[in-house]
Amino acid sequence: MAKVKSAFFCQNCGAQSPKWTGKCPSCGEWNTYVEEVIEKEHASSPSWNKASGPARASKPQAIDQVESVAMQRIKTADEELNRVLGGGIVPGSLVLIGGEPGIGKSTLLLQIALQLPNLKVLYVSGEESEQQIKMRAERIGIKNNNCFVLSEVGIANVFRQIEELEPQLLVIDSIQTLYSDKVESAAGSISQIRECTAELMKFAKETNTPVFLIGHINKEGAIAGPKVLEHMVDTVLQFEGDRHLVYRILRTTKNRFGAASELGIYEMQGEGLREVKNPSEILISQKDGDVSGVAIAATLEGNRPLLIEIQSLVSPATYGNPQRTSTGFDNKRLSMLLAVLEKRGGFRLGTQDVFLNVAGGLKLDDPAADLAICMAMISSLEEIPVSSKVCFAAEVGLGGEIRAVNRIDGRIMEAEKLGFEAIYVSKFAQRAIEGKKFKIAVRQFGRIHEVISDLFG
Ligand code: TYD
Ligand code: MG
Repeated sequence: MAKVKSAFFCQNCGAQSPKWTGKCPSCGEWNTYVEEVIEKEHASSPSWNKASGPARASKPQAIDQVESVAMQRIKTADEELNRVLGGGIVPGSLVLIGGEPGIGKSTLLLQIALQLPNLKVLYVSGEESEQQIKMRAERIGIKNNNCFVLSEVGIANVFRQIEELEPQLLVIDSIQTLYSDKVESAAGSISQIRECTAELMKFAKETNTPVFLIGHINKEGAIAGPKVLEHMVDTVLQFEGDRHLVYRILRTTKNRFGAASELGIYEMQGEGLREVKNPSEILISQKDGDVSGVAIAATLEGNRPLLIEIQSLVSPATYGNPQRTSTGFDNKRLSMLLAVLEKRGGFRLGTQDVFLNVAGGLKLDDPAADLAICMAMISSLEEIPVSSKVCFAAEVGLGGEIRAVNRIDGRIMEAEKLGFEAIYVSKFAQRAIEGKKFKIAVRQFGRIHEVISDLFG
């Protein structure tokens, strides 16, 4: 019998060491080393490389001489997914989708599989039985006899079935449940994840079949397993959103075949996920008349302009220490904006509780939301509503200056499309909008107190 070999792996970054160490020399985390058994000596089970003989030795070529192939992407029925993938599924690509439990990863991928009637799809689940998957498919309500399901955790058997079925798209739900006999440690351990991903990648590249992997995420929100998993795959998508809210966001965090900052929005309904084609409309609440404390920011998520409602409540603190609480926005940046308003605008906010909320459960990190946030707070403090026909797109500097933001023309166009009457931007954005004709009034300002006196008199 072959000798059992074991090694220690950092559960954070995947670094390997022959002995236990307290601090990982590679990523600096403490107490992350776990012993895992690796035994490659008597690898007996089949895997995807069994049939393919010795690899062809590749030779270097001049880059000019390399034949360029137009990449034929597979367009899915799901426009949001096509966008986050950079224009459709690339054949032979390995795509990882991460997200919290219950967010809808299995629903999303099953739905995509069912919406591709011209493609033979194999959906492998290590988490649910065929009956459970069937129940979900019935809920989604799309009929497709070209979609096959398999409840299996052994990768060797998965490959055996693949050879027989020859699917044109493979879905693995989830990579953490898959198990390869070549590695002795438990399913979900670093070495298992790494081995299974490597075999799936080999399969994807050699047969030009796209593979989707579902990955669990850990408490900190990173995809569980080593960072190497993210390095190995071509595309990493994050499926996020508050589980109690109906909206879900699919975000690209890495993409070898497209922009890495794209975004798709879905709504979770009783019959699966529905694409949200015009997200700005859902992010701005419908209401009769104007309310104080609300302002609309023209932000950019990836390449997509989004108008988002900012709500704030400013009221005198009753219990000693004033509170500053924000949902969907960085608390430190909020403190900075409050200090700017105090110092440059002359508002007494030090004695006030400040609550801030970004509509729709979104997380904002676009500095262009600064001006809308400031105006929402002042509107609440003064109890003067901001007209719901105006929006804002500018960063606020420490000196109270209104700074220009990127892609201002895209933001203005989106606001115009949605029927806004005016947008407040920086006067330093002049160059970007020169010579363009907009129906919407573009108001340009250089300092925050000028905006305040224009709005609140
Ligand atoms: P699921 O896809 O199982 O999440 P994950 O694979 O990320 O763990 O589904 C998550 C939730 O979605 C579950 O609580 C039930 C709900 N759901 C709907 O609201 N409508 C539907 O049509 C389906 C299939 C699920
Ligand atoms: Mg699932």
